[in-house]
Amino acid sequence: MSHQTKIRRISVPDLRERKGGEPIVCLTAYDAPMAALLDERCDLILVGDSVGMVVHGLPSTVGVTLDMMIMHGRAVMRAANRALVVVDMPFGSYEESPQVAFRNAARVMAETGCQAVKLEAGEYAAETIAYLVERGIPVIGHVGLRPQAVNVLGGFKAQGRSQDERDSVLNSARDADQAGAFAIVVEGVAESLAEEITQAVSCPTIGIGASAACDGQILVTHDMLGLFEWTPKFVKRFGDARALIEEAVDAYGQEVKARSFPGPEHVYRLNTR
Ligand code: KIV
Repeated sequence: MSHQTKIRRISVPDLRERKGGEPIVCLTAYDAPMAALLDERCDLILVGDSVGMVVHGLPSTVGVTLDMMIMHGRAVMRAANRALVVVDMPFGSYEESPQVAFRNAARVMAETGCQAVKLEAGEYAAETIAYLVERGIPVIGHVGLRPQAVNVLGGFKAQGRSQDERDSVLNSARDADQAGAFAIVVEGVAESLAEEITQAVSCPTIGIGASAACDGQILVTHDMLGLFEWTPKFVKRFGDARALIEEAVDAYGQEVKARSFPGPEHVYRLNTR
């Protein structure tokens, strides 16, 4: 029995059973130190393609590659033993056909050891979700504001403003649910639509900018820690990581310039002959 199989990790069925129960706590991680901190505190860790913007400084998630997701997924999996780990399928890796999606998702699963993948589920995606699930790859859908579609949407805008848009988001969620998604991320929609989706689907909904009507919540960890000057309206800053880092780096700089760091306690004293 391998080391991995001894760990009691939150499973896909465990998470699915949380529908309508205790809200599901989810955050993003892209590296091992953050995953280690989140592991005991979150039900689900998402290796989001937001890594492109948050870590790599890209203007959107469109430039994120499969190799980037696999590298970050592997780092997270080295440190997360308990939480369910889900890796995002990046733009261009799953839209072409269910077969291409399976090949790429199988690579993500095999090379990272994650438990599931997430894909942005436009109305076309149901066939792909069913294809993956039937072949052993658990899938989370993602509806509403789909960041990979930023160029079609004309920006990161809340979705469901017109009745047509509302219907389209609701239908995408219903289709993803019926295709076998075990959860659905609902991003950037009004509370009434989040409520309607949550009632309409059999799997848990995980909201981001979608109100407390969802079965769980997710945020980009760096946003909720307060690392960035600007965050979207729906983000609450639960910490002030920016100030903490600035103060620490300023103090370090001052001590280096004053030659008070390193002090005697930080210096090796080796017996030399
Ligand atoms: O990429 C991401 O981080 C996401 C979220 C739902 C936060 O998709």
